[in-house]
Amino acid sequence: MKVGINGTGLITRALVKLVALNEEFNDIEIAQINGRSMTIDRLKDLLLFSSSQGHTNLDVSINYETKELLVNGKKIKYTADSKPENIQWLPEIELLIEATGTFRDDRNDSKDPYRHFKSLNSNLKGIVLTAPGKGSIIDYMWIASPDLEQEITAVTSAEKPFVIGAASCTTTAAIPIVDTLDDLFGIESCFLTTVHAVTRSQDILDGSKGWCAMDTQLHTTGATKATNKVLKKSIPMDGIAFRTSDKAGSFIQIDAVLSKEVTKENLLEAFKNSKYKDHFDYSTVTNPPSSYVRGNKAMVVLIPDEFVIINKKRVIIKGLFDNEEGYTNHLLQLINFVISKMT
Ligand SMILES: NC(=O)c1ccc[n+]([C@@H]2O[C@H](COP(=O)([O-])OP(=O)(O)OC[C@H]3O[C@@H](n4cnc5c(N)ncnc54)[C@H](OP(=O)(O)O)[C@@H]3O)[C@@H](O)[C@H]2O)c1
Repeated sequence: MKVGINGTGLITRALVKLVALNEEFNDIEIAQINGRSMTIDRLKDLLLFSSSQGHTNLDVSINYETKELLVNGKKIKYTADSKPENIQWLPEIELLIEATGTFRDDRNDSKDPYRHFKSLNSNLKGIVLTAPGKGSIIDYMWIASPDLEQEITAVTSAEKPFVIGAASCTTTAAIPIVDTLDDLFGIESCFLTTVHAVTRSQDILDGSKGWCAMDTQLHTTGATKATNKVLKKSIPMDGIAFRTSDKAGSFIQIDAVLSKEVTKENLLEAFKNSKYKDHFDYSTVTNPPSSYVRGNKAMVVLIPDEFVIINKKRVIIKGLFDNEEGYTNHLLQLINFVISKMT
């Protein structure tokens, strides 16, 4: 299916790279990207090289007459318009990936993704956000959402256009750990800590968005609420996010009090047999740096040698995740699923 992407940022570029280089995403044809201030030349350069991920091994060129990028032989139309109503989406595009971070709240007109459906001559039927939705927009996660099949079938077959959220990178890393522990041992309470790479939503020095991105900052995290929402659970959870100046590669720690006593072997067995088993990776390197995980497509890379058990029921699980490509890989699984229900 032909899809469009709004935004030219880190996640858009990860989407282009992963779709171009992985056969499992062959059903996703990125036919158009709409940006704001980015020129087509700059987008080409950023698709070839990323400061966080390195060289991409893509073959990218530009057709200036048609305003198209050619990525590994596939044409991507490039437009630049910051108002959703004005974007001229190609008529064959039915699904939009909204990756600006700007349009994800249907309670606020200036941030409402439903504005995309007002664009002239477009045939958009649905939107997947690359972020948590706000207002009435529900988040889904591939593998994790308990009623994914029924609910995505319902939204995609309804007469009206749909918008769904895809939670956050931290939620994507937290869910396989939290859900596995809760299903097997019961979680009585849980505290999430993430040490998260810098993103463009932070200021380079103190400013309107926040404190200096080169210092470690303390933030609240929406990932604990989002974890319960996606899983339709009500595990007592809270958490904190430390933002650091790392370019990509983030750390997560789940500190949970369980209902049952466990050993380290029990924990490893639980993860190995979990429904998320194909979405975990494992590090045999103890205390790895965040850069170790860049380019890793797992939801979370567990570090078993760093697991801690205190008094048999309190467990501390540690892992790393690539907040760009790990998240985007899992998002693409959801998009594949949505497309399978739309066609
Ligand atoms: N980076 C991560 O680790 C990560 C992980 C998971 C989810 N996400 C989520 O994914 C979304 C995008 O994140 P990102 O890191 O890719 O952000 P980013 O690098 O800042 O990119 C955002 C892009 O959207 C463009 N944009 C903003 N408003 C626009 C508008 N009105 N019309 C057209 N383009 C517009 C920006 O254009 P300009 O170039 O003109 O500024 C920029 O190219 C956010 O919601 C974020 O929370 C990010």
